[in-house]
Amino acid sequence: MCGIVGYVGKADVTEVLIGGLKRLEYRGYDSAGVALIDDDRIVVNKVSGKVAGLKARVREEWGDGRYAKATTGIAHTRWATHGTPTEVNAHPHLDHTGEVALVHNGIIENYRSLRARLEGNGHHFESDTDTEVLAHLVGECDKGDLFQAVCDALHQVEGTFGVAVISSREPGRIIAARRGSPIVIGVGDGETIVASDAAAIMAHTQRVVYLDDNDIAIVTADAVELRDLNNVPVTREIAELRYDEAAAEKGGYEHFMLKEIHEQPEALANAIRGRLDFDLGSSVLSGMGTSPRELGELARVVLVGCGTSLHAGLVGEYAFEDLADIHAEVEQAAEFRYRNPIMGSRDLMVAISQSGETADTLAAVREGIQKGAFVMSLVNVVGSTISRETGRGVYLHAGPEISVASTKAFTCQVAVLLMMALKLGRGRRFSRVQGRELAREIERIPELVEMVVAQSDRIAEIAKEYSKGEHAYFIGRGPMYPVALEGALKLKEISYVHAEGFHAAELKHGPIALLEQDTPVIAIACDVPGKDKTLGNIEECKARGARILGLVSERDHETAECMDDYIMIPRCHQLVATIPAVVALQLFAYHVARLRGCEIDQPRNLAKSVTVE
Ligand code: M6R
Repeated sequence: MCGIVGYVGKADVTEVLIGGLKRLEYRGYDSAGVALIDDDRIVVNKVSGKVAGLKARVREEWGDGRYAKATTGIAHTRWATHGTPTEVNAHPHLDHTGEVALVHNGIIENYRSLRARLEGNGHHFESDTDTEVLAHLVGECDKGDLFQAVCDALHQVEGTFGVAVISSREPGRIIAARRGSPIVIGVGDGETIVASDAAAIMAHTQRVVYLDDNDIAIVTADAVELRDLNNVPVTREIAELRYDEAAAEKGGYEHFMLKEIHEQPEALANAIRGRLDFDLGSSVLSGMGTSPRELGELARVVLVGCGTSLHAGLVGEYAFEDLADIHAEVEQAAEFRYRNPIMGSRDLMVAISQSGETADTLAAVREGIQKGAFVMSLVNVVGSTISRETGRGVYLHAGPEISVASTKAFTCQVAVLLMMALKLGRGRRFSRVQGRELAREIERIPELVEMVVAQSDRIAEIAKEYSKGEHAYFIGRGPMYPVALEGALKLKEISYVHAEGFHAAELKHGPIALLEQDTPVIAIACDVPGKDKTLGNIEECKARGARILGLVSERDHETAECMDDYIMIPRCHQLVATIPAVVALQLFAYHVARLRGCEIDQPRNLAKSVTVE
């Protein structure tokens, strides 16, 4: 989603800003722009399209060293919300005087009424964006103090924002603020960087300050002063970034997605390491911050998330009910707070998110806290908003996930959910012996995944038979039903093939009408209760001409024979098997997308972290 970079310091400002935007490309965007303070005016360059285009444009127009003395600038990658992804709609936006420039992540919900009022005061707008309205509002409030102007403007807006603002009358200074959209400030040696994501900062400094909601920062090359929107000073700690530079490079792989799929054995080992207690037959998840008594008193687990994280939650639902004997429910995070859910102190809410910044999941977390539930997070990005607001939870330790399509985060989420369920289960009906058995199965996950990753070339061959169609249907049952949903999501988001996941039993209640000669059906027919019924469903598809790719348990040649093509999944506990099964579907989606020539790491219209509701 949108990305912000701002810089004050001695280095070449344009280079730092464009370098920062490059680091944010993985988030997904469709236009980009940069603004500098040059002596007593603001200069702007914007393009529709990629950062490479912005770089070329800047080189062409500013390449003569004209702005070499600039010390201050802001830049942005825009993921269109209000208005198409054109150059005019790209950020930075200027106010009516051209003296203030602003970049913004989030949505100004009352922008229409603000715009009408400003137009009534003689303002003229060039773009269709809510952001330009905010820039004009700051300009209108500016009576010679940019900080105060930003405060006054932000008091008038409804919605969410992460902003960085500069004024030609105050060179050497950036005003940054947040409500709902992350802002992190890198504190360097004689230079300061403002960004929406630490990835843009790590090349300059490891020392960062995360803004909380309603914080506003006055940023200069040598200092960061923090206040709240009522001008009351606030203090935030300086944190050390723990970002792995190597993980942000492709390391010889053609795409980040392929690299991240291959990284899964190691990522899973990191997620599991030190967290299994073979003696007690349980797991050690100290971040949950719960005593055995508190766990014993829980009446329900509510799992919330979006997209892939929601699918991990669906596997978790099976795990909590099956292993821990506790009522579990999965909630689409976007729906949670609008549904007025019944929650209380005996409910454990687990917010699942790779980024820890997803707006809908964050809103659900806040609602859960409000309702007195026991809220914890299952997040990958350390220090992200959801992890900070929940204050307790379990990190995935999957390492940075750059590709928009989530892969290693999903498998690590499921692994951690299994360990959570094991812990709860041991406080309830699970015996030590049963606990040990499951712990041993969980310990095998990296090796099981390795066995699937090793089949990548074979899966690439199979993908050739399925890459030309425009539709594909995924079916599964039991814990493999969420795997079918995730397989379909992976395929549709990176290959643009229309793909749907269904419970295998649901087919004949409607979706089977879609099947035609050679329609691909990807059937997850590993050993789970009800497999025989799935085999029946597969026959129903074959009878209507569908071409079947089956996921079957290792050495199950009888089932494999029912399929047109098959991929073998190592034998293991049925909940554990969801992980290697999904890895096979990740590889399938990857190879189909590659054959179709798609832009795999940054699929059209998608953003890595969705920070608007
Ligand atoms: O960062 P999160 O896990 O909260 O993100 C949730 C979804 O936006 C994300 O999983 C999305 O569905 C991915 N593109 C799936 O690959």
